[in-house]
Amino acid sequence: MSRDTLSVSIVCDMTLPDVPLAELDLSDVEFWKAPRDYRDGAFKKLRDTPGLIHFEEALIPDSPFPRGAGYYALTRHEDIWQVSRNAKVFCSSQGSNIGDLPQEMNEFFGSMINMDDPKHFRLRSIVSKGFTPKEVSQVEENVRVKAAEVVDRLLEQFPDKQCDFVEHVAAALPLEIICDMMGIPSDDYAKIFKWTNTILGVGDPEFVGTLEDLMAHALEMFMYAQALGEDRRANPRNDITSVMMAAEVDGDQLSPQEFGSFFILLVVAGNETTRNAISHGMKALTDFPDQRELLFSEYETHSKTAMEEIVRYATPVIHFRRTATEDTSVGGQEIKAGEKVVMFYNSGNRDERVFDDPYAFDVTRPMQPAQVGFGAGGPHFCLGANLARREMTVMFDEIRRRLPSLRISGEPDYLQSAFINGIKRMPCEWD
Ligand code: HEM
Repeated sequence: MSRDTLSVSIVCDMTLPDVPLAELDLSDVEFWKAPRDYRDGAFKKLRDTPGLIHFEEALIPDSPFPRGAGYYALTRHEDIWQVSRNAKVFCSSQGSNIGDLPQEMNEFFGSMINMDDPKHFRLRSIVSKGFTPKEVSQVEENVRVKAAEVVDRLLEQFPDKQCDFVEHVAAALPLEIICDMMGIPSDDYAKIFKWTNTILGVGDPEFVGTLEDLMAHALEMFMYAQALGEDRRANPRNDITSVMMAAEVDGDQLSPQEFGSFFILLVVAGNETTRNAISHGMKALTDFPDQRELLFSEYETHSKTAMEEIVRYATPVIHFRRTATEDTSVGGQEIKAGEKVVMFYNSGNRDERVFDDPYAFDVTRPMQPAQVGFGAGGPHFCLGANLARREMTVMFDEIRRRLPSLRISGEPDYLQSAFINGIKRMPCEWD
């Protein structure tokens, strides 16, 4: 498809279909397979409907766990903001994904994203030591080197000037950076990549067959991490695994099991999200050539707002859940203790009450009011937001300087998921 055709199709998408509430089911896998403008129309309808709509949970075939009692969908920016910042009333320890799992499984898979204070505070205080400005600035030089290597490889390996953007550009950088920060040897990168794909690809038949497959991969990853953590406690090196394993809060250290679960969260959260932000970013820069021209010609001026706009526009993580700890109300809706609410960040980021022309991609869009792609504030706000912004800024800068004609040359193959706005494959070309 030519660039002209692509930009025309985006303009057409701005006239959203009017989706009747009665036919709307956010738990139906078919909904997440529907065209994007249909889904945008559906979320607009939900934002414009007073109160909150309650949805049944998806019935997961062969699941050993009972089906939960459903959830209220939070689709307005203001409601998401309110819930995210009130962790006492809207807790995470009963799970941050929609379905209910036993408490141990929540902590095993989700680590601190499925915890409340004081547990969350303790763990976040320890692991934050690996993400201080000093630690992140040490990584910065490395980000530059690795991004340059990504472009070197494109120039060397693809003489016919086309390749899969996701595999050869977007996936490579975040994976190598997070693995390198953690002290994982390069021979193991491919293994880590496979594990993270399985865990976040749940729902997409390409990545996971059964719940047993998923558990088996998570367990392999957990054991790999435990061994890494134990090794670095005994033989510290210059990596954040060593910093975290040595860190103490009130005389208390991270156990190898805690590190194992945190590792799963970190490599999954650090890889897929940034990869998808870079992929959607490149697609948006292809679809909106005037924005690409503006960003690429005045990179210093616009890169900060542009990266925030890419995260808003892409919203790589679609939702997280909270559970009410007491009777309360949100968006004009009474919520009882124990009921679930799900924050749809994709919808918050298209809320026309907050963002002018929300379907347009505008690299100069003001940073306030804030987009909610990294969360809407509160104790769980994305720990890796600064690292992700850095990786994206450097990657697009390398492309701008060394491959300024690089563009997306066909339709993306989207991940089938209600949780991650993912792109599995997407062809690109350059002159
Ligand atoms: C564009 C890339 C990224 C996006 C869109 C993203 C998005 C998110 C979101 C929506 C949350 C939940 C926030 C909340 O509940 O308030 C989150 C949490 C988290 N993210 Fe990210 N993330 C990205 C990159 C990263 C990276 C690079 C890392 C680490 C290397 C990372 C590590 C984490 C961790 C550890 C948490 C849990 C924090 C907690 O529970 O206290 N993320 N992220």
